Amino acid sequence: MSGIVGYIGERSAQTILINCLMNLEYRGYDSAGLAISNRHHIEMRKEKGRIQDLEASIQLDPMTEGSLGIGHTRWASHGTPSATNSHPLTDENEKFFVVHNGIIENNHQLKKSLIADGYVFTTDTDTEVIPHLLAKYDTGDFKETVRMVLPMLKGSFALAIMSQSDPGTIIGISQENPLILGYGEREAFLSSDISALLSYTKEIYPIKNDQMAILKEGNISIETLDGTQVHPEKASIDWDETEFELHQYDHFMLKEILEQPTSIQQTLENRLEDGHVKLPELEAFFEEHDLHAFRKIDIIGNGTSYHSGMVGKSILSKMINLPIEVSISSEFTYEHGALDDSNLIIILSQSGETADTLSALKEVQSYGAKTIAITNNNRSNIARKADCTVCTNAGLELAVPATKAYTSQITALLLLAISLTEKLEGPGAKDIPELVDALTDLPNVVDQSLVMTQDAIDRFAQVTDDQDHLFLMGRGLDYVLALEGALKIQEVAYLHADAYAAGEVKHGTMALITPGVPIIALSTQPHLREKMVSNIRELKTRDAYVVGVTTVGDVEIGEVVDQVLYIPEAHPFLMPIVAAIPLQLLAYYAGTVRGYNVDRPRNLAKSLTVE
Ligand code: F6R
Repeated sequence: MSGIVGYIGERSAQTILINCLMNLEYRGYDSAGLAISNRHHIEMRKEKGRIQDLEASIQLDPMTEGSLGIGHTRWASHGTPSATNSHPLTDENEKFFVVHNGIIENNHQLKKSLIADGYVFTTDTDTEVIPHLLAKYDTGDFKETVRMVLPMLKGSFALAIMSQSDPGTIIGISQENPLILGYGEREAFLSSDISALLSYTKEIYPIKNDQMAILKEGNISIETLDGTQVHPEKASIDWDETEFELHQYDHFMLKEILEQPTSIQQTLENRLEDGHVKLPELEAFFEEHDLHAFRKIDIIGNGTSYHSGMVGKSILSKMINLPIEVSISSEFTYEHGALDDSNLIIILSQSGETADTLSALKEVQSYGAKTIAITNNNRSNIARKADCTVCTNAGLELAVPATKAYTSQITALLLLAISLTEKLEGPGAKDIPELVDALTDLPNVVDQSLVMTQDAIDRFAQVTDDQDHLFLMGRGLDYVLALEGALKIQEVAYLHADAYAAGEVKHGTMALITPGVPIIALSTQPHLREKMVSNIRELKTRDAYVVGVTTVGDVEIGEVVDQVLYIPEAHPFLMPIVAAIPLQLLAYYAGTVRGYNVDRPRNLAKSLTVE
C-alpha cells in the first residue's frame, strides 16, 4: 500500500511532487522516491523514511530541475523498508522508471523467467518485474512497449511509468487500483488519491481499467489498451483544501475526534424527514429488487469497519426478521457459506479501496448476491462496483486511526437499518419514530460527550503511562465498543489492550487480573447493567483498578468502580457512538503522553490496497 503521483507542466516537478506526496503520506511512510525529467534525461532519488527525509536529501544534494516526473511514498508489503526497495524501480540500464501501488500477483513466475533470461534483480519487491519486462520487450516506442507488457501482469495495480528514450512522457495505468488524472492550466497530475491534488486542481478523471493515460507536453490523452481514443468525462470536485490544515490542533486525530458532531451531522444531512429516513441513492435498488426475497444479510468489513459492522448486525437483528451475520472481509472471501441472489451484502469501507473488502465484494457478486456499500468515498472502487452506495459524507479523514469514519459509518448503518425495516415491515418498525428523533439529536449528544469526557480522559491517560496492559470489558453493544476501543489503543498508544465480553472473563482471562491492573468497564446498555455490576464486583474481588464508563445518573456502576466517567444518555442503539468518544480520546492522549506520532502509527497505513 503506497501513494503514487505524477506531474507534467511548466513548474518545478520536484516541488509539486513533494507537496503531493506529503498529502499522500497517510498511505505509507516507510520510504519515498522521485524520478524527474528535464525532457532530455531522467534522474532518480530515493530515501528510506518519510517524505521530509527525501526532501532533506534533495536539499543537501540537489537533483536535476525538471518539469515532469513521478513520485512514490511507500508502505512496505513486499521487501523491508529501505532505499533499495523504495520506488521508482528501474531496470539494469535505467531505461524505464516505475512507481507502483498494489500487487503483481504473478511476480514470482515472471521473476523466475526473467532471471533465466539473465535479468538481475536488486530489490525484494514485486514491482521490479515491471521495469525488467519493459526493458525486455522494448519496441523503441514507449506506448507500444507498455501496451505489450501490461497483459502479462496479474493483480491489482496503479502505475506511473517514464522512459529514458521518451523523457517527455508519463504513462499512467489503473488496474483495479485507483489512479486519478488531474487537469490544470497547461499542466496535468496523477495521484492515487484526489486529496493530494486539491491545492492544484479540482478537475479530475479517475482512470479506468484497461485504459492508459498518456501525459505529454500540451497533450493529455486517454486510450484503451487496444489504442482506441477515449473522451474522458471529467468531474469537478468540491472538496475544501483547508481540510488538509491542522488549524489550531496538534494532530489530525484530535481534530477528527473533535469534528464528530459535524461529521455525524453531515451523515444525517437531508436524510431525516417527518419521522422517516430518506436515502434517494437506494431508491432504484429498492425498486429493482424485491426485498422480501432476501433470505439473509451479511455485513463485511475490516478493522474499525468490521467493528461498525458488528454494531450494525446487533441493531439489524433487533429490527428485522432475517438472519444477519457479520464477517471480516479477508476471512469471508475464502471461507463463506452458500451464496446466491437471495443474499444481501452490506459492504463497509471508509476508503472504499481496501483490497480485502474489494475482494469480498467481487466474490459475493460472482454468486449473484446483491450489494449495498457504505463508504466515505463515492468515487472509490467499492462505491463504483457495488449495486448502490450510501456515502457517509464524513469529510476527509487524514489520521491513520479511524475515528469520525467509525461514528459516521454506524450512523449510516442506522439510516440503512431504518430504511430496510420500513420496507420489510420488520418488528423494529414501531421504534422508528423514536430512533429518528434520537438520530436528530445525535450531533448534540456527541458534542456533550466530548465536553464531559475530554479533560477526565486526558488525566486517566497520564495514569496509563506506566502500564503495559489494559483490559476493556462490556456486554452486548458495549462488548463491540470494547473491541473498537482496544484496537484504537493498540494502534495509537502501542499499549497491549484487549477486549472481552464481560461475562466471559471468569472463564479464563481472570487469571490475568492481578492487583492494580487497569480495566475499563463499559456499561451503556440499561438491560445489561445489573449483570455488568456483578461482573465488575468479580474484578474488584481480584483488586483490579476499574474505570467505569456509564451514562449520567447511573449510581449503581459508580458505586462499584474505582473511578467513573459519565457520558450523556441516548437511545441504546446510539451508545456505541456516544461512548466511542472517551475511548478515542483515551487512545489519543495515551499515545501522545508516550510521545508517539498518533497520526502515523508505526507499521500502519490508511487504505490498504493489498490483501
Ligand atoms: C483502524 C483503522 C483500520 C481500518 C481498516 C479498514 O483505526 O483505521 O482498521 O478501519 O483498515 O479500512 P476501510 O474502512 O477504509 O476499509
